[in-house]
Amino acid sequence: MLDAIESLTGVQTDGRKSRLPAKLDYIQSVTGGLLALFMVGHMIFISTILISKEFFNMIAKFMELPFIFSDNPMMVSIVGGMVLLIFIIHAGVALRKFPSNYRQYKVSITHAHMMDHPDTKMWFIQVFTGFAMFFLGSVHLYIIITHPVITADVSAGRMALEWMAPLYLLLLLAVEFHGAIGLYRLALKWGWFLGDTPKKGRKKLKFYKHVLTVFMLTLGILSLAAFIKIGLENKSLEKPIDKTHTSCVTTTYFKVVLS
Ligand code: HEM
Repeated sequence: MLDAIESLTGVQTDGRKSRLPAKLDYIQSVTGGLLALFMVGHMIFISTILISKEFFNMIAKFMELPFIFSDNPMMVSIVGGMVLLIFIIHAGVALRKFPSNYRQYKVSITHAHMMDHPDTKMWFIQVFTGFAMFFLGSVHLYIIITHPVITADVSAGRMALEWMAPLYLLLLLAVEFHGAIGLYRLALKWGWFLGDTPKKGRKKLKFYKHVLTVFMLTLGILSLAAFIKIGLENKSLEKPIDKTHTSCVTTTYFKVVLS
């Protein structure tokens, strides 16, 4: 009954507006910020392939926390599952900001063009890349959770021989544009790093956003190329992909449990 009154009047029975929208905004900021920070760490990890295969393998092994889980890669699946959960919460909360019918879409796009307002245009890029990530990000996370043993040869095989490279390229573009715009908007919304003159602060933040996008895209594309090169070299050497490493989570866990 109380819900019905609020849904008709827009206010609660005590005359106040619900705090839920503000709480949802907060959840969106926190989950978005966590994911953006995770993606910076993720890119640093992936780009170690540019140093050497051995270095990448060493970092990948370290992520399994072998001193706690001995030879069991369970940690990668656990962290992957947690990231997927945060990803789903963030997407679910963000959905409410998508234009939900033709009229809303038309009003916002006309507004963006008429005012020639770069930040509103940026917001559209975020909606579009966010939508793309629903699909692209879920595929990648599901594969990582169910195939938790990571080595340079396995990743290279996935990219070059199992047709994951095109998906990764699209995901990379979506993540880097979405993440950098997201951090920029987060800083503006909560007033971080704006200084005394917001106009100057906004200009500075925009500059950092561009630098971050270019830096992350460059690292991502170079790493993608390095993995493809390794995969093609392995193929020309007729080096088979190590099936113990590509095997799925059940086989991997049972092998560890039974050994
Ligand atoms: C715990 C979670 C994650 C782990 C362990 C992980 C691990 C990896 C690994 C090992 C690769 C190399 C390719 C492969 O083996 O398939 C990779 C590539 C990639 N991942 Fe993730 N990932 C995680 C989460 C994410 C998330 C949440 C996103 C974005 C939504 C993402 C975006 C990408 C992209 C774009 C690439 C290609 C990078 C490049 O251009 O070189 N990853 N990830």
